[in-house]
Amino acid sequence: MSDTVEGLDKRDPSKLRSSRWFAPDDLRSFGHRSRLKGMGIDDADYQGKPIVALLNTWSDLNTCHSHFKQRVDEIKRGVLQAGGFPVEVPVMSLGEMLMKPTTMLYRNLLAMEAEEVIRCHPVDSVVLMGGCDKTVPALIMGAISADVPSIFFPAGPMLKARWKDQTLGSGTDAWKYWAERCAGNLCESDWKGVENCIARSAGTCMTMGTASTMACIAEALGLTLPNAASIPAVVAEHSRLAVATGRRAVELAWQNVTPRGLLTRASFENAMATQLSISGSTNAIVHMIAMAGRADIRLTLDDYDAMSKKVPVLADVRPSGKFLMEDFYDAGGLPGLLSRLPDVLQLSALTVNGMTLGEQIQSAEVIDDTVIRTRENPLWPTGGTCVLRGNLAPNGCVIKTVAAEARLQKHVGPALVFDNYAELKKVINDPELDVTEDTVLVLRSAGPIGAPGFPEWGMLPIPDKLLKRGIRDMVRISDARMSGTSYGTCILHVSPESHVGGPLALVENGDLIELDVANRSLMLLVDAETMTRRRENWVRPTATWTRGYHRIFADHVTQAHEGCDFDFLHGHSSNREPDIF
Ligand code: FES
Repeated sequence: MSDTVEGLDKRDPSKLRSSRWFAPDDLRSFGHRSRLKGMGIDDADYQGKPIVALLNTWSDLNTCHSHFKQRVDEIKRGVLQAGGFPVEVPVMSLGEMLMKPTTMLYRNLLAMEAEEVIRCHPVDSVVLMGGCDKTVPALIMGAISADVPSIFFPAGPMLKARWKDQTLGSGTDAWKYWAERCAGNLCESDWKGVENCIARSAGTCMTMGTASTMACIAEALGLTLPNAASIPAVVAEHSRLAVATGRRAVELAWQNVTPRGLLTRASFENAMATQLSISGSTNAIVHMIAMAGRADIRLTLDDYDAMSKKVPVLADVRPSGKFLMEDFYDAGGLPGLLSRLPDVLQLSALTVNGMTLGEQIQSAEVIDDTVIRTRENPLWPTGGTCVLRGNLAPNGCVIKTVAAEARLQKHVGPALVFDNYAELKKVINDPELDVTEDTVLVLRSAGPIGAPGFPEWGMLPIPDKLLKRGIRDMVRISDARMSGTSYGTCILHVSPESHVGGPLALVENGDLIELDVANRSLMLLVDAETMTRRRENWVRPTATWTRGYHRIFADHVTQAHEGCDFDFLHGHSSNREPDIF
C-alpha cells in the first residue's frame, strides 16, 4: 500500500486521537483507564495502538443484517491482526422491511448518531457496518461530518432465490407477483410459495435496489475495499472481506486518511456515473446530494442530468434488467463494470486502499458480457435515469427511464388526483373509478414533510380493473420516492413537494399532464390565470407532527432536490471531542 495522503503514517502513538483520552496524567484520564481495567482490558491491550470502532447496525429487527453478529467478530480479528484494538459500538439499525413509515425518516437520525458517537469516543478509525438501504448514506454522512478515518463494510446481497422454475429477486418480483395476484392470475398457494422463497438468506435485497446501489456508490467513492459491494452476504469471501476491512482500518488510523481528506468532487462524479451505469435506485440521487453536502460539495440535479447524458447502462440487473446481484458479482462486480467506463470516470480519485480508483480497476475484467454489457451493446444507451423539469416540478423530479415502458415516455393524459396515500388505498380498486390506461395517476402529500418522512409510495398501484385487462404500466407522478426494487413510468421526488405549496398541490382531476422524457419536460397544461386562482385558494395542510424527533424532522428537512438532510447538518464542525475536563 502506498501512502498517498501526505505527511502521515508516522506510527507515533502520541499522535493517535485516542491518546487524548488515555495519555494525560490527570484525573479524567485516570478514570478512562481504570474503567477499562474494570472491564478486564489492560494497558497492553490498547495503549499505543489504534482503537478501531466498529459501528454495528445489527438488530433482531433488521432482516438484512442478521449475519453482522458473526461479521463483527471477523472484523475484530482483522483489527487485532494488524495491531489495533477493536471496540464494537452499536448504533441505530434501519431495517427497511419492519420500520414504518419508512427508514428515510430516520436516515438523518442515524447520521447524527454516527457523527456524535465517533466524535465523543476515543477512536482512531471506524468501520461502518451497514447495508440495508438508508444505513449506508446515514453512516457515510455521519462519518464525513465527524471526519475520523473510516472504511465502509457492506452487508452484501442475499443469494438468488428460486421458486418452482423461476429465479426470484426480492422486492422487484414481489411487486410483479402481487400484480399477477391482483389480476387473478396467481392462486393463494402459489403466492404463499413466493413468500416462502423470496428471501433466501441473510443480506440485503439481491436486485439493484437501494442497498446494492448504495454499496456500489460507497465502493465508487473509494470508501470500501475493492469489489466489496456485490459479494453475497453469506459466502466465504464476505467473511474474508470482513477480516481484510478490519486490517485496513488499522492502517487508515496510522495514515489518518479521513473521509473529507479523501472525498472530492471527482469522487462524487464517479459515484454519479456508477449509479447511472448500474441503473441504480433513484433514492441514491437524494443520498448522493446529502453525502456531498456533508463534504461541502454542492451536487445538483443538473450535475446528475449532465452525467446521465454521457453514461450508458451496462449492468443488466433487475429491476431494469434480467439478472441479480450474485450474477453481477460472478460477472466481475463493480471493478469489472467500471473498467468499461474509463472515459467517464475520474481515475485519479483516491480510495481507502491507498490506491487511486484507476489503479484499483486496472486489472479488473468482465467474465460475462450478458450480465455486464459491453459499450457496444448497453442495456440502455444514455439517460437511463433522467431529471425532468417544467411547471409541475420547478425544482426538478426524476424518472428511471430504463425501467419504464417506452410507449409512455411521451404521453399526454388526464390527471386522476389522490390527496394522500390513505385516500388512494381506499378507492384505487373501486370498479367505478374513472380511470383508463391513459390516465396520469397523481399522488400528493407524499414528500419529505407532507407524508411525512418521504416514503416509498411512488410506484402507485395500477387499479385492479386495469391489471385484469393486462395493463402493467401507467404514468404516475408524486412527491414520494419509490423503492430501488420498483419499476414503471413513475415520476418521483417532485420538488417542491405539495405540502409546502409546490404546483403538485394545485392539480385537479381531468387536468392534462404532458410527459416528454426526450425533452426532459413535465408540464401541467393549465393556463397561468387558472393556476394563480387555484394558488390563492390553496390552504396548507395542517402539520401532524408537534413533538420529538418528528418535529425536528419536519422543521429542518430540506427538499428532495437538496438531499433531504437537515439544514443545520451541512458541512462539518470538528472531530474534536467535547473537551471541558
Ligand atoms: Fe434491506 Fe431491501 S429490505 S435491503
